[in-house]
Amino acid sequence: MVEQILLSHSLLVKVFLGFLVGGLLIPFVGTKNPGGFRKASFIYTMIFQALIAMIAFVGIVALVMGEFGMTLSIILMIVIWVAMMYIEIRKYKLIKTGNLKNEQTNKLLRGAFLKISAVQILLVVFMVVFKIMEVKGVISLS
Ligand code: HEM
Repeated sequence: MVEQILLSHSLLVKVFLGFLVGGLLIPFVGTKNPGGFRKASFIYTMIFQALIAMIAFVGIVALVMGEFGMTLSIILMIVIWVAMMYIEIRKYKLIKTGNLKNEQTNKLLRGAFLKISAVQILLVVFMVVFKIMEVKGVISLS
């Protein structure tokens, strides 16, 4: 049972990673239409929140059912989770309130979107690689 839950957790993380990579296309949406970028960002943020909430929910279920205890590795996951959520909300607020009609601001925000996505992708990749190395016994934080 716990194995299946863990499998869903890790599958969701991979779907999320795919979504983040696909999201790199968002800053190229409607380059001549600022409203298009804002709308695409909104939809992106909604899916982002839904996926990350599912990851946490399934993670917490696994944590309780598997009686893993609060290992450093789990604390690291929670810290990354909070950081990703925080960055995403800050980014979306900027795009929502920024004056996208101003060409300079528009360019700046599209650039920021790309950089922030790159940081988020790196965080997820880091976590996945970390977990693989932990399972292989290369590193241990528990
Ligand atoms: C509130 C957030 C989270 C909770 C409570 C949580 C909980 C857990 C638990 C209990 C495990 C299994 C125990 C272990 O291997 O130490 C696990 C495994 C894992 N988690 Fe999380 N997690 C959370 C967020 C995340 C996030 C944000 C990521 C990726 C960025 C992530 C990636 C992974 C991976 C790759 C595994 C290994 C899965 C496997 O063994 O197949 N987790 N998580």
